[in-house]
Amino acid sequence: MSGFWSAWVIVLILINIGVPLFLFLWAQRVDIPTQPDGTTGHVWAHGALREGVRRLPTWWVVISAVGFVAGIGYLVLYPGFGAFKGVLGWTSQGELAQTREINQAREAALRERVRGKPVEAIAADPEALRVAEVLFVDNCAACHGRDAQGNRALGAPNLTDGDWLYGGDGKAILASIVDGRGGTMPPFGGSLSGAEILELANYVASLSGKPHDSLRAQLGKRLFTNCVPCHGADGKGNTALGAPNLTDGVWLYGGTIAEISETIRLGRHGMMPAWGARLGQENATLLAAWVYAQSHRTGR
Ligand code: HEC
Ligand code: HEC
Repeated sequence: MSGFWSAWVIVLILINIGVPLFLFLWAQRVDIPTQPDGTTGHVWAHGALREGVRRLPTWWVVISAVGFVAGIGYLVLYPGFGAFKGVLGWTSQGELAQTREINQAREAALRERVRGKPVEAIAADPEALRVAEVLFVDNCAACHGRDAQGNRALGAPNLTDGDWLYGGDGKAILASIVDGRGGTMPPFGGSLSGAEILELANYVASLSGKPHDSLRAQLGKRLFTNCVPCHGADGKGNTALGAPNLTDGVWLYGGTIAEISETIRLGRHGMMPAWGARLGQENATLLAAWVYAQSHRTGR
């Protein structure tokens, strides 16, 4: 703060405290001339109201005195009186740095505790999960949602439902996060006719008991040979390829006939970015533990 502004603030404070303080002290001892009838002699409303003489009540005097002492005491101890730093030397930056140091020490202890532990064990550590949740909100929520329930528009799967494209043990989840994933569903719009795609879509819908046209579904069944290499003869998928299970009623891109048809015609390509280099192995492991915990909560 420059000398001028410091002086300016000091003058304002002196006026703001000085004037009320003077009035406060003066009011205790001033002699108010009193009329024989016990009033000051001031009248209002044509004599209907007369001004009496009363000292300030003691409780009010005490509270005000405490207020003055506290206010002046504050200005002596803490910064506030212009550029004067206060005798305690307190600064907001200092307090921030101190809090940060305490937090860093606490987090370092936590990281020491979880180092080298498997994902499943860390998932049982509430303090680790709190740190991991912050990481998730900062890095993952944009695609998977704040509550990790996924986003169809991006093909980002729900991470809480126990249904996995690539496997749900600690190792598989960690690999998904560290290396990223990219599942490619090839487009069949070039090799299959519109009618064939519609038949296939009805067959796929029938696998999970979705509403479908059973005649078309029957015709679609023979075309499913195109799909068997990745989704398996029973349509239950393949975690090595990230080919989803088509029989469980869980959909990345939607399970209506129209949505399934679009998936078959145009293909899909969900991209999970790789986080290993960006976040480091330790943070990735904490995140894997958080994801693991979300899908293994009691009662699921
Ligand atoms: C840019 C969007 C995006 C971001 C950001 C993102 N993900 Fe993903 N994630 C995806 C998509 C899309 C998939 C599905 C990939 C596929 O279809 O092959 C996926 C898949 C996954 C899987 C595998 C799920 C399964 O069923 O096997 C896990 C685990 C996962 N993400 C965790 C995370 C975590 C943890 C973060 C934060 C570090 C994160 N993701 C950030 C888009 C994203
Ligand atoms: C080369 C392997 C491969 C072949 C062949 C393939 N798929 Fe896929 N399919 C995938 C993968 C991988 C995904 C997940 C795409 C993603 O993660 O974005 C997928 C996704 C889908 C989905 C979306 C599921 C959802 O949850 O929304 C449907 C439906 C589907 N495939 C149906 C078919 C049908 C029908 C065929 C045969 C015509 C077929 N697939 C052939 C690999 C394949």
